[in-house]
Amino acid sequence: MDDNLIELRKPVPKDGMDLFELVKRCPPLDTNSSYCNLLQCDHFSDTGVAATQGDQLVGFVSGYLKPSDCQVWFVWQVAVGEEARGCGLAKRMLRSVLKRAEFNQVRYLETSITPDNEASWGLFTSMARELQAPIEKTVLFDEQQHFKGRHKTEYLVRIGPFNSVSE
Ligand SMILES: CC(C)(COP(=O)(O)OP(=O)(O)OC[C@H]1O[C@@H](n2cnc3c(N)ncnc32)[C@H](O)[C@@H]1OP(=O)(O)O)[C@@H](O)C(=O)NCCC(=O)NCCS
Repeated sequence: MDDNLIELRKPVPKDGMDLFELVKRCPPLDTNSSYCNLLQCDHFSDTGVAATQGDQLVGFVSGYLKPSDCQVWFVWQVAVGEEARGCGLAKRMLRSVLKRAEFNQVRYLETSITPDNEASWGLFTSMARELQAPIEKTVLFDEQQHFKGRHKTEYLVRIGPFNSVSE
């Protein structure tokens, strides 16, 4: 897929169901309810990004500014359709959000990753390198303690502090 033909923009509510379908075809991501995806595209539009080619949604980053600390952008999910992988789209989407004027005060990127998600570790390790920032890993939600054994441990990955990202 030609990366130059992929446009990035803030999500709109009409993207909600396409996001639901995109996440479904991006294992190991957990699917959310379509209602949750609609909220991500509406209330959290300023802190997320949609990547489209023509009328097709090929990538998405959902996230929010942490309610207890507005210096932290918490990335909820990154999804890139198989057809668009390997051309730098995930990193381009993350960068595009960090460049927004309203992100001037953001100094940390946080996300959570399960131990077996190599692509995700690869993506965020690479992002930390690009931001020239330290990366720390701690347990966020434990398999037994929080998930009652039904989900692998989610590690909190914290990148930062980094300088504001410019155009
Ligand atoms: C993870 C995912 C978002 C990567 O998308 P992508 O557009 O192909 O990623 P990029 O091309 O921007 O690659 C970014 C970095 O991640 C690394 N990476 C990407 N896929 C990788 C993989 N399968 N294994 C190891 N590293 C990987 C790349 O090497 C690159 O690092 P570099 O620039 O230093 O070489 C995509 O594979 C995906 O949607 N997977 C399923 C959902 C998922 O696991 N999401 C995880 C985040 S919540």
